[in-house]
Amino acid sequence: MKFDQGFIDKVRESSNIVDIIGQYTQLKTSSADQHLGLCPYPDHNEKTPSFSVSDSKQVYYCFGCKKTGNVFTFLRDIMGLSFPEAIEYLARRASIDLPKQPASQHQIQKQEKDKKEKELLKRINALASRVFVKNLQTQPEGSMVRDYIQSRGFSPEIIETFKIGYALPEWEHLAGTFKSKSVPMGSAEKLGLIKTSKNVEKSKTGFFDIMRGRLIFPIESPTGEVIGFGGRVVDPEDKPKYLNSPESPLFHKGKTFYGLYETAKFIRSADYSIVVEGYTDLIALYAAGIKNVVATLGTALTEDHAKLLKRYSKNVVVLFDGDQAGRVAAERSLPLLLKAGLYPKGFVLPEGNDPDDFLKEHGVKVLKEKLAKSPDLFQVVMSWHFKGFTGSATEKVTIVDKLAPYLAQASDRRLKSLYIRELQDRLGVDQKWLTQSLGAAGGFQADSGVAPKSHQNPVQKGNNYSPLEVVKIVNPPKAELYLLNLALKSPENLEAIKNSGVLEQFSHTKIAGLIIETHEKYLQNLNEFDNLTASLVDRVEPPEILNLQFQKQIADLKAGEERKLIDDCIRRVKQEALKRKSKELAYAIASAPTEREQKLEELRDLQKSKLIDFKDMNQE
Ligand code: UTP
Ligand code: MN
Repeated sequence: MKFDQGFIDKVRESSNIVDIIGQYTQLKTSSADQHLGLCPYPDHNEKTPSFSVSDSKQVYYCFGCKKTGNVFTFLRDIMGLSFPEAIEYLARRASIDLPKQPASQHQIQKQEKDKKEKELLKRINALASRVFVKNLQTQPEGSMVRDYIQSRGFSPEIIETFKIGYALPEWEHLAGTFKSKSVPMGSAEKLGLIKTSKNVEKSKTGFFDIMRGRLIFPIESPTGEVIGFGGRVVDPEDKPKYLNSPESPLFHKGKTFYGLYETAKFIRSADYSIVVEGYTDLIALYAAGIKNVVATLGTALTEDHAKLLKRYSKNVVVLFDGDQAGRVAAERSLPLLLKAGLYPKGFVLPEGNDPDDFLKEHGVKVLKEKLAKSPDLFQVVMSWHFKGFTGSATEKVTIVDKLAPYLAQASDRRLKSLYIRELQDRLGVDQKWLTQSLGAAGGFQADSGVAPKSHQNPVQKGNNYSPLEVVKIVNPPKAELYLLNLALKSPENLEAIKNSGVLEQFSHTKIAGLIIETHEKYLQNLNEFDNLTASLVDRVEPPEILNLQFQKQIADLKAGEERKLIDDCIRRVKQEALKRKSKELAYAIASAPTEREQKLEELRDLQKSKLIDFKDMNQE
């Protein structure tokens, strides 16, 4: 659900970060505004409190691990809530009613019509499923399908649990059943169960069955309704091996896992899911007692799949065939899983094995061990790229190019930085090189000082910033960073910095943009100055760049010292801007001799002003 800014503000104002964080760590009041406790972040295990929560600013800051954020980043990191989920959570807590989505009469009618249609389609699928189940039950011992089931080792319990059925090798068996029960044939056709027959003379019903002579695996929704079918040939001569239901109002391959309805509870209790590639993979694992499994339906894993998994557990092991296709699929799934905030591990089977073969060859004990010990999928994928690595520079660059987009997707920053460190170790490079190369390789937005389009005009955007629109800031110059933090500290500072004219001279226009935006917001509501930091902190990447205002360099300054620091920083930024300008001029003089005289004049002026203005700041 999308919330308007007014509602978000209302929720923000009715929630106190001190109360929320107080549920996770005991906070003691250390000053009128500060509450101190043990850092609640699981990766920062501390014995003496260094986690500070500001009542007036509604932000937290850890002096130990340097994490900063507002109530939304906290709920995201600790409870795994998305922004809308956090809004809903806080609204409930504060007993604020969620806004109702306005719907037009027309929309309501359409919704009702769609709902009715879906119900009809579900009834048709349920009927078809019963027919398929009965077909299988009535097949005699020694028939082809019975022999096949035996050869696969499907037990009666498995057949019952997964409602496995059989489509008779006849042209109009299902169509005939539908006709006799007055099922709307057009709807059954929409579901891909039957098709209009061109051979009208011979056809009794005018339709023919799509699935014929196939073992049927019904596909269920997470709530247990049959939404589609997979049909596997029984006769190896028949092609294709599988037929699957087409997309329909009920069935979307890219959002559906086979087996989830049966296995969800096992995923919850094991606190991890295993993702396999198909119907029989899932059944083989389940039958062997590994029940926390889901299967994709012959398609690549999608973002929707990843989100669906996250509802049950953050931990995922992808179990893929050891062939080339399996590896490609495993690698493709990595960024999606990382983006969804999951913790993906990977076990890629030996070449030529599928899960069923592996179980038959090695037994369930070995598979369980392998699953329990499987490394992070990132490491698995990384190893593939390091295959044959000799340490040459070109190899290093190639590997970074390959892995950068995956790392860029990782929404869990802690995981991301650990992966980066592992990559750094294996490449044998220093951190600075890797950080810069990851930026250059794309995905990571390197900050060239020029704001990307969406942020180019922060002022005009005013208050309409979506909370998810993140401003990335890479390698900020120290003086500009200080000015940002000083500006957020008090309205007086903000005004002074805004009015000094220094913002136009920032090398990082994005930082200048943040200050301008903050000033705009402040003018809109002069009483809300304290909230400005909190409303920036979940939009700035990394949020730590707003930390300085809480640290002693800035927090402990006396009034006169603060003013002096501001002036020094302003001077420093202006000086840097002049240096850039001189360089540009020098370059222009060298490359365009015709304008030499005029440019030289400009350069002399510049240098004159430099001499008057600047003494060094001893900052760096
Ligand atoms: P596999 O070929 O690995 O099949 O395809 P499988 O599930 O292991 O089946 P067995 O062991 O040969 O009986 C994996 C998945 O890809 C989809 C199916 O969902 C299958 O389970 N697939 C495969 C199709 O949709 N169509 C096909 O023709 C083949
Ligand atoms: Mn198989």
